[in-house]
Amino acid sequence: MEESRIAAPIGIPLDRFIKSNQDRFPTATGEFSQLLRDIALSGKVVNREINKAGLMNLAGSIGTKNIAGDDQQKLDVLANIRFSRALEKGGEVCAIISEEEEHVIEVNKNSKYVVAIDPLDGSSNIDVNVSIGTIFSIYKRRSSVGAVITREDYLQPGNTQVLAGYLLYGSSTMLVITMGYGVFGFTYDPSLGEYFLSHTRMKIPVEGRIYSVNEGSYHSFPDYVKQFIEDCRNNNCSGRYIGSLVADFHRNLLKGGIYMYPSTAKNPNGKLRLMYECNALAFIIEQAGGAATDGEKRILDIAPTDIHQQVPFFVGSTSMVEKVADFKGRG
Ligand code: AHG
Ligand code: MN
Ligand code: MN
Repeated sequence: MEESRIAAPIGIPLDRFIKSNQDRFPTATGEFSQLLRDIALSGKVVNREINKAGLMNLAGSIGTKNIAGDDQQKLDVLANIRFSRALEKGGEVCAIISEEEEHVIEVNKNSKYVVAIDPLDGSSNIDVNVSIGTIFSIYKRRSSVGAVITREDYLQPGNTQVLAGYLLYGSSTMLVITMGYGVFGFTYDPSLGEYFLSHTRMKIPVEGRIYSVNEGSYHSFPDYVKQFIEDCRNNNCSGRYIGSLVADFHRNLLKGGIYMYPSTAKNPNGKLRLMYECNALAFIIEQAGGAATDGEKRILDIAPTDIHQQVPFFVGSTSMVEKVADFKGRG
């Protein structure tokens, strides 16, 4: 379906947006809309908890580590509980992949959707009152409803996503989504408890002037990444790095730029996770006219082999992402 056929006037509430467009999506059913509502509602709850984290002693770590070896923060665990509980109780999901869970969570085998989620992204920024986020992907299972969940159901490449989105808990809270017909951004009004469409048909500038990368690891970047960074510096690009993927991504989506997490000595396959970080943002950026690769290959075409698989990640304005690949090709 054409992006222009989506009804998306600025100011429309999320619920109205879902309702008015529900019939227009070949993939959309009442269950699918309900699933999006469940995620949006959990986002409100998590937003509320983030906003009072300092007062409620919710900042800081709990002393355990997740599967990637990161310290789990109280809000990582809390956000994971909020989202997975809503998805379990909502009844529209058969399996959940979460950064905070070692194994796939099998939920309702009579449902047809699989969700991959990073419940709290940028958790090292919680304690210091800097923007953080949530990232999620929705897939349709491949096996029949009612059957046992298989690897083929949850290890799908990003190009089969039916919806991807993120919540950004920033100076305002936003929900940005794509269903494959353009990118739509909703801003949350806490006084009304509702998300309203504020950014319709979002497009990233083709030529960006911002590069976002943790330059502290510069010495262990591959040569092609160093050459690209040198090129950015020579062209007076601005360096901007928040350290919360969602926040860095969102800024670059609006202003034009590239976010990079290449392979490093510490993380030879990059740090970011294909299933619940890279795929969702890759789907969104392509829908916004940008690109996402692992340095050469399209992220959305990578066939996953593990739910926590890591991948080098280059995402943003097409001209910049292509230039990275050019440098790589020359090497
Ligand atoms: P998470 O908090 O979900 O583990 O993700 C952290 C990610 C991402 O948000 C951020 O861009 C990146 O890690 C920062 O890593 P460095 O501190 O290595 O730059
Ligand atoms: Mn993350
Ligand atoms: Mn996380």
